[in-house]
Formats: sequence, C-alpha cells, structure tokens
Amino acid sequence: MTDGGATDRALAVVTGASSGIGAALARLLAESGHDLFLVARRGDALSRLAEGLAKTNGIDASFLAADLGTPEGREALFAGTEGAGRVVSILVNNAGFGLNGPEAELPLDRVLSMLQLNVVATAELTHRFLVAMRARRAGGILNVSSTAAFYPAPYLAAYGASKAFILSFTHALHEEAKKDGVTVTCLCPGYTKTQFSAVAGMRGAEGTPFPELTADAVAKIGLEALEKKKAYVVTHPLDRVWIASGRLVPRSVPVKLGAAVFSKTRLRQ
Ligand SMILES: NC(=O)c1ccc[n+]([C@@H]2O[C@H](COP(=O)([O-])OP(=O)(O)OC[C@H]3O[C@@H](n4cnc5c(N)ncnc54)[C@H](OP(=O)(O)O)[C@@H]3O)[C@@H](O)[C@H]2O)c1
Repeated sequence: MTDGGATDRALAVVTGASSGIGAALARLLAESGHDLFLVARRGDALSRLAEGLAKTNGIDASFLAADLGTPEGREALFAGTEGAGRVVSILVNNAGFGLNGPEAELPLDRVLSMLQLNVVATAELTHRFLVAMRARRAGGILNVSSTAAFYPAPYLAAYGASKAFILSFTHALHEEAKKDGVTVTCLCPGYTKTQFSAVAGMRGAEGTPFPELTADAVAKIGLEALEKKKAYVVTHPLDRVWIASGRLVPRSVPVKLGAAVFSKTRLRQ
C-alpha cells in the first residue's frame, strides 16, 4: 500500500478495478511497473487487490471506494490524484454496467444510474484528465466501450447507446488529442467472462452466436491498443467480422438480429 506520495514510476488510474476487466487491467499495469490508483465502490476488494499487487510487483497502489455515478465520487477521484499534485500517466475509464430487458420494463432509476456511470462519468473524467495531460503534452486515456456500440441493440437499448456514446466520443478525441501528445483509445470487448452478465440480469455467451474471451485477454488487447496509439480495438476477430458485415447490409438487419438474440438472454422478469 502507499502513502499516496510521488515516486519515479508512472501512475495509472483504473476505474471499476474491483473485478473483471478492470482488475485484469490493474494487474497488467502493475506488472509493467506502474503505480496504481484503483477506484470502485467495493473498498474491501480494492484493498485486497492493491495490497497484493503492491507486494508482488514492488509498486505503490492506493485505492478509493467511491460511486462514480455521482458528482461527489468523480470529484473525489480527481481530488485524490491530479488535484493532490499526482501526475496521472494513464487513465482507464472501465467502470460500467448493463441492463438487459425491454426498456419499458426496466426500473428507470437503474437506467439513469447506468447512464450517469457509463456516459457522464466517462465524459467528465476523460475531460478533466485530458486537460491535465494536454498541458503536459503526455498521457493516455483508455475508455472501455463494447461491441454493443456499433449497432442499436434492442433489449440492451440504453446500454448499447451509452457504449455508442463512449466509442464516438473517444474516437473523436483520439483525432483531436494526438497533436497534443495525448493518446485516447477505445476498447470494445465482446462477451467477456466477468460479473457483467449477472449484474445486467442476462445469461452469458453460451446460447448466443457470439464468442467469449477472458478478462485477462481483453485487458492485454486494450493496453496493447493504447500502446500502439490506436483509435479503437474490437477484441475478438469474429466480432470484427460481424461488425464489418453489418455495414454491407441495411442497418435494420443487424438491429433485428440483435433483437432476436437479446430478447432471449434476460434472466429476471
Ligand atoms: N463482460 C462483458 O461481457 C463486457 C462486454 C463489453 C463491455 N464490457 C464493459 O467492460 C467494463 C467492465 O465490466 P466487467 O465485464 O469487468 O464487469 P464487472 O466484473 O461487473 O466489473 C464492473 C466494474 O465496475 C465497477 N462499478 C460498477 N458500478 C460502479 C459505480 N457506480 N462506481 C464505481 N465503480 C462501479 C464495479 O465495481 P463495484 O461494484 O465495486 O463498484 C466493477 O469493478 C464495463 O464498462 C462493461 O460495460 C463488458
């Protein structure tokens, strides 16, 4: 664990680091010698991860238990890093969740909480850290979207739209920021073995036509894409194929196929 002071190592901030892809990203960043600032709501999971990674990799790892769906949580993240004079080299906006089901049957408060986290937190944190990185002409931001970003996704409508926002915003900023020495990259995973499906109230990849990867594989692909200064990366080759094929047919086709799949994946009624 750390006292939060400056070291010679680059500092990486990872949101949603208490499980899944975020925890895998934190592990890889620690292995490549980054100090870590980990954020999510479950402080106990963050504490265990930070302590283990600090010990194993000889880095400093601190954490903040915060709800990034709130302005206070986002302010606490910024205040604990750049606001405290800690230079952030890499920001990973990974915290997010989905909701599967007909929009009219989803609890509105959950939909709005999802948009606050997936859209508002990603936009606000990207903006605030981009300002700091641009002033230094150095830094990287990795925003986690989804393959659900590429076409409207019935029965994952608000989730897909939130991820479409992230992809569009991030790709646009990639173009703007590269002349300022800052890399902004979008990671678009397909099905990944994490708690995501359970939280979204949906079955996993089995029974769908989609491939599945581990969180470790997805994290590695994301960090490689950032390193190579890519605008975005789709993690599985088969996902790249259906995304490209969808552009060759009327837009209604992938939307109807999405409806056929995601109308059947819902777990709870
Ligand atoms: N798994 C997939 O199939 C898949 C596919 C495409 C995209 N993605 C995207 O990948 C990202 C990571 O998800 P995952 O698959 O790793 O699922 P996960 O295991 O459920 O991880 C989600 C992370 O987000 C954090 N989080 C949720 N609400 C939060 C809040 N209000 N404030 C702060 N942190 C919050 C969770 O921690 P706490 O609960 O401790 O707050 C957790 O660390 C998400 O953006 C997701 O949309 C996942």
